[in-house]
Amino acid sequence: MHISVNNIREAVCSCDVLILPFSEEGPHPYSKLGPAIGRLVSRVWKKEFQGKDQEVLLMHARGEIKPARLLFLGIGKKDNVSPERIRRAGGRALTYLRDLGIQRPVLSTRFLHTLGQSPADFAEGGLLGLYRFDTYRSEKQSNRIIGLTILSRPSADLNRRIRHVKTVASASAFARDLINTPANDMTPTDFARVALSLRGKGMSVKVLGKKELVKLGMGAYLAVSSGSKEPPKCIVLEYRGSRKPPVVLVGKSITFDSGGISLKPSEGMEKMKYDMAGGAAVMGVMKAAAELKLPAHIVGLLPATENLPGGAAVKPGDVVRSFSGKTIEIVNTDAEGRLALADALGYAKRFKPRAVVDIATLTGACAIALGGEAVAMMGNDRDLLDAFKKAGDDTYERVCEMPLYEEYKDYLKSDIADIKNVGGRIGSLMASAYFLYEFAGQTPWVHLDIAGTAWAEKDRPYIPKGASGIGVRLILNLIERIA
Ligand code: BES
Ligand code: MN
Ligand code: ZN
Repeated sequence: MHISVNNIREAVCSCDVLILPFSEEGPHPYSKLGPAIGRLVSRVWKKEFQGKDQEVLLMHARGEIKPARLLFLGIGKKDNVSPERIRRAGGRALTYLRDLGIQRPVLSTRFLHTLGQSPADFAEGGLLGLYRFDTYRSEKQSNRIIGLTILSRPSADLNRRIRHVKTVASASAFARDLINTPANDMTPTDFARVALSLRGKGMSVKVLGKKELVKLGMGAYLAVSSGSKEPPKCIVLEYRGSRKPPVVLVGKSITFDSGGISLKPSEGMEKMKYDMAGGAAVMGVMKAAAELKLPAHIVGLLPATENLPGGAAVKPGDVVRSFSGKTIEIVNTDAEGRLALADALGYAKRFKPRAVVDIATLTGACAIALGGEAVAMMGNDRDLLDAFKKAGDDTYERVCEMPLYEEYKDYLKSDIADIKNVGGRIGSLMASAYFLYEFAGQTPWVHLDIAGTAWAEKDRPYIPKGASGIGVRLILNLIERIA
């Protein structure tokens, strides 16, 4: 969708549809647009149309004004208006119009401006909401919004914001595409190929293969990959937009999680193609950071592998040696994410990072605790946790902090090794984070569990059912905050 800014009056704007946002409170805010628009609005205002959040009403203007139609768009009570409401309104309006076959809607921004809201948020919701994944359909949907025109005085600030939301939304779409792609077309090798395509523009990418991983001693990560014929690929991306020590982003990249020998039940197993959503989010962040030329130094580590129960698979009870030297008893092969992440977190220290962030579809318990409404967050650095809280509120990729009490250490005591990879069902959201903490050590570190939020079970106003792309906007906001 192309986005342009045009400084003409609503009544003289020749277009298919003019979008008019309304809050619930009357009198309506459009009486100053001339008597013709005023008359059209009065016909429905507080009769067929109330201005409720997510309410839409399309009306033909019958030649009384230049726009052919008006879309009345509700944003709810004034007191509740927020950037998130505006994003949702953008998603709602533009998907509604797309499905009607409208191609070039126009947005009136007068009312948004009086509410102190930016049309860029509307555009962001629209861009995110219009996302569709039809790679595997023979018949593609032809309805498409080609361009959105924002009626506003042009300004450098608005242009900058539009450029920003376009880059960020396309990075989210990029991550969603990777996640939605079935695991047979998104093996570790495919994933690495995508990463390599991001080379250039300040980004370097290298891929460590099995031989190098063996040499490095990444026994925990290699144990996960041992049950699959697909070779592991540890992807290392580096974007150097500053000379400072980097922020290292570690993304769980299990391209398919069957559970391994501790096999998952077949019901719902097809969804486990999304077990690389953390890695996809990291790739999205890196791509956007490079495009936006952010003044930040970022390293992305994606230990990609499948988790399958092949003949050479790791077995419950096996003990492996991690990159850090710690031995791990693998009690449950379905707790594989933390094994791959443990080695990546150890490797992260080589970059002498100022901060390490890992993002992972780590535990079913995360989804049980928070549903699809928030990311579970744990970490060892108050400032970093607080910055994430703000980034979460800003982007509405909200984070909810859970505790990392030292008592969780006991959950992971093994009878024969330094640590075991599961501590039982009780408290497993925190215990799994504690496991990672043992490998992150003293580096400022935050863990984001996105198991509940990475996949939308139903359409949301700007997240169509399927991969949500969560983490891209959150982590980019965090990096912009601390850069
Ligand atoms: N990838 C799963 C976690 C998951 C579950 C993500 C559902 C998204 C939706 C992870 O590897 C896993 O299997 N975790 C187990 C660990 C258990 C065996 C200790 C879990 O949480 O059930
Ligand atoms: Mn698993
Ligand atoms: Zn998993």
